[in-house]
Amino acid sequence: MVVLITTVLYPSPTFQTYNTNAQVPDSAGTATAYLCGVKANEGTLGVSAGVTRDRCNTTKGQEVTSILRWAKEAGKAVGIVTTTRVTHATPSAAYAHSANRDWYSDAEMPPDALEGGCKDIARQLVENIPEIEVILGGGRKYMYPKNFSDAEYPHEEKHRGTRLDGRNLVQAWQEAKPRGKVAEYVWHRRGLLALNLSRTDFLLGLFEPGDMVYELDRNNETDPSLSEMVSVAIRILQKNPRGFFLLVEGGRIDHGHHEGKAKQALHEAVELDRAIGLATRLTSTQDTLSVVTADHSHVFTFGGYTPRGNPIFGLAPMQSDVDRKPFTSILYGNGPGYKIVAGERENVSAVDFAHADYQAQSAVPLRQETHGGEDVAVFARGPMAHLLHGVHEQNYIPHAMAYAACIGSNRGHCNAATRPATPLLLPSFSLLLLLLC
Ligand SMILES: *[C@@H]1O[C@H](CO)[C@@H](O)[C@H](O)[C@H]1NC(C)=O
Ligand SMILES: *[C@@H]1O[C@H](CO)[C@@H](O)[C@H](O)[C@H]1NC(C)=O
Ligand SMILES: *[C@@H]1O[C@H](CO)[C@@H](O)[C@H](O)[C@H]1NC(C)=O
Ligand SMILES: *[C@@H]1O[C@H](CO)[C@@H](O)[C@H](O)[C@H]1NC(C)=O
Ligand SMILES: *[C@@H]1O[C@H](CO)[C@@H](O)[C@H](O)[C@H]1NC(C)=O
Ligand SMILES: [Zn+2]
Repeated sequence: MVVLITTVLYPSPTFQTYNTNAQVPDSAGTATAYLCGVKANEGTLGVSAGVTRDRCNTTKGQEVTSILRWAKEAGKAVGIVTTTRVTHATPSAAYAHSANRDWYSDAEMPPDALEGGCKDIARQLVENIPEIEVILGGGRKYMYPKNFSDAEYPHEEKHRGTRLDGRNLVQAWQEAKPRGKVAEYVWHRRGLLALNLSRTDFLLGLFEPGDMVYELDRNNETDPSLSEMVSVAIRILQKNPRGFFLLVEGGRIDHGHHEGKAKQALHEAVELDRAIGLATRLTSTQDTLSVVTADHSHVFTFGGYTPRGNPIFGLAPMQSDVDRKPFTSILYGNGPGYKIVAGERENVSAVDFAHADYQAQSAVPLRQETHGGEDVAVFARGPMAHLLHGVHEQNYIPHAMAYAACIGSNRGHCNAATRPATPLLLPSFSLLLLLLC
């Protein structure tokens, strides 16, 4: 008998994404893991597993801090770039502590949470770590008072401000910056690209009232691409001689999948890939540890023995040998693409399956496709990239990155006696964490 176990010798680097109370995780729990270094309950942000979702009164004393804060405390510049609302799960685990990821503004919070003293996420963005140098993404409406007209869509009710406390958090963000520093707010691509980066100390860019528009549907005059945002962010952060930490999220890959729209999801992923390439060109492996991984997986499959050269959004070369109908090579385990026509699986040849908004067929009908529970891949380059090798729990990521950068609470190995000055410890040592989903 021959047993060939290749993974023992060369374990492919992967992370286990489960939340403390869920096999298949949500992004709030996973973001807390890969930013704060502890696993957490589903739906909770920047707090330990001692916090129960929705229970404001379990939060006190359970707050955990993120690698963004550790980097800031070490004197590095820090930034957040996402295609979602900047108050969405992934970015907010970097700065907020909340028993519920959906508490974007006080209007989304139940009375007991407001009375219990819990703060909405937009307010925490402005108050918790006031010197985040770069914040780019969507989510304007949570920053403005209820009924405040949106700058870009002044006549649309649904895009008006949401805040019940009447505060203008964009103004509060600007006013909280140290005297003599330049803090720019932009909401338009032209405004972003016209900035003089050498004189911009702080930048807040909010390009949509909610999440940014899918890359395939993006208005290239009003909205920047993810790679344009990443380019501006890195160029501002690089001005700090002590290096930087930047979190980049291709956050709408996840939304495309939830809607069963494989083409939207994969074009979002391609744009993240462009951003990764650009970040690689703007930084050096001498002083920058870059890590690319995912929040979690999705129940997304690619099969059907398609020949090389087959369109990715095309059909498998054979029909089903059960219902005699064609099928696309991309399918979902569950989601909104489930479709029965006259008692049978829909014949996809009769529909435009190459359309950007085509919902690929799924085995189980659900309004929203779900996340997947399997491990996700991790890719790392730069100093100490070897630490991200093998199979790890997802909450290992910030500890490994902090170890490499000599930031955070565990720095004992960084004193000169045990770790003499090497290129690994260039003063400009920087960290890039790029996330899919
Ligand atoms: C915490 O709040 C919940 C309601 O959200 C309530 O049922 C519970 O009794 C409270 N616990 C304490 C210790 O106050
Ligand atoms: C909301 O704003 C619109 C336009 O600025 C105004 O006409 C309307 O009276 C406002 N509604 C409330 C409830 O304040
Ligand atoms: C950008 O700002 C710097 C520093 O204030 C200044 O020297 C430079 O002339 C400005 N560049 C442009 C194009 O305005
Ligand atoms: C912007 O979008 C328009 C319309 O889709 C397209 O014709 C144009 O080439 C795009 N420009 C750039 C710079 O991508
Ligand atoms: C599926 O649709 C195509 C194109 O309309 C048609 O040629 C084919 O016969 C259909 N297959 C079945 C099993 O209905
Ligand atoms: Zn999701």
